[in-house]
Amino acid sequence: MKRVLLTGATGLIGGAVLHHALEREDAAEWVCLVRCTSIEQGRQRVAARLGRFTDPFTAQRLARKVEIVPGDFTRADLDMDPRLDGVTHILHLAADTSWWGDERVNRTNHDGTLALARRARAMPGLQRFLHVGTAMICGAKAPRHVQEAAYPADDAQHLVAYTVSKAAAETSLAEHFCDLPIVVARPSIVVGHSTLGAAPSSSILWVVRAADRLRMLPCAPESSVDIVPSDWVAATLHGLLFKPHLAHRLYHVSGGASASTSWGDLMQAFEAAEPSDGIREFTRFDLADRATLRTRFAQVFGLDGSLKQAMLRATRAYYAFCALDLSFDNTRLLSEGFAPPPSLPDYLPACLANSGEIVDQFADDLEMFTPPAPSVSVALTARA
Ligand SMILES: NC(=O)c1ccc[n+]([C@@H]2O[C@H](COP(=O)([O-])OP(=O)(O)OC[C@H]3O[C@@H](n4cnc5c(N)ncnc54)[C@H](OP(=O)(O)O)[C@@H]3O)[C@@H](O)[C@H]2O)c1
Repeated sequence: MKRVLLTGATGLIGGAVLHHALEREDAAEWVCLVRCTSIEQGRQRVAARLGRFTDPFTAQRLARKVEIVPGDFTRADLDMDPRLDGVTHILHLAADTSWWGDERVNRTNHDGTLALARRARAMPGLQRFLHVGTAMICGAKAPRHVQEAAYPADDAQHLVAYTVSKAAAETSLAEHFCDLPIVVARPSIVVGHSTLGAAPSSSILWVVRAADRLRMLPCAPESSVDIVPSDWVAATLHGLLFKPHLAHRLYHVSGGASASTSWGDLMQAFEAAEPSDGIREFTRFDLADRATLRTRFAQVFGLDGSLKQAMLRATRAYYAFCALDLSFDNTRLLSEGFAPPPSLPDYLPACLANSGEIVDQFADDLEMFTPPAPSVSVALTARA
């Protein structure tokens, strides 16, 4: 019997994986490590996340199928709960995904991951530890088509502390835990769901919609952006977790050359899906020109209230990633027999069909952009 320890079940991708697994009755026992005050509260948190993919009754029924272990993965090495001893597979998704934290993000994503790895050493039947990183550890000066093996790299020019911490976790796992059956999966940018659209989450979708509404890009329309839907990521991670033999220890979970999309194609897809919003003509602007974006943002969305001001800062930060013109090679993944993802223009209509106001969708990501204490020194934290 497979027994899976899942961290991050209450998050975007963790919920998607759990829903994928439970709906298919994959014959594994799923143990969710959840921050909660009681098992029942933890179960309700998991049910709430599953409820984004299905009706409330089914979400409750599915949540009853999992074991809840209350806990914090960053202290997993101190957690001698015997329910963890028989784990055969770990899917480690939990992370602090806020962009502007520093020590706290590193403590969670680096130190916490190593704590989980130490606990994994006391799981004698462990067959796979699937650690989920991010393709964005390549930083700002990467080649246009990024290969897995080139990163983590000491000279990567990170834009945010979050990717620094994710790169450091991978480096330390490789250096200190080669005795564990670790495989690393690095998703690119996860947006929407290929059939449920924005229902499970509007994380990052609001950025793409905001770019369309602003009619401004910080890059050429031919620039690539590597976006994949959450359900495809979930199915792929589930496959990587259980595939008995993998040729590599490191995989991009990405669109690669074929499913990455250009901004120009994306904007045409907007025009086709929302023709009433007019012909798309885009101005290219320099990200360093803060005033231009601010003025345009104020015209389109207004700048009243802290939510919109936070959204302007977040838009500027995401634009910096959008302008990188990157796609992440997925040849390894496809060679393992995994299906390629649909590209965002293919499922954009599904995302727009159940999208509300862009500003409200931004609220899904607000936590990621709540600035910590003012010591952060990354380039994009300056006041919008
Ligand atoms: N979303 C993307 O576009 C994307 C792209 C590339 C890579 N990734 C990676 O994929 C993973 C999942 O991302 P996501 O977007 O699903 O993140 P998310 O929605 O922000 O969810 C984060 C999850 O981690 C949990 N968590 C955080 N700290 C914890 C702790 N100390 N103990 C236990 N659980 C903790 C959270 O639990 P609470 O609910 O208790 O806060 C939540 O379940 C991350 O490792 C991220 O780096 C994401």
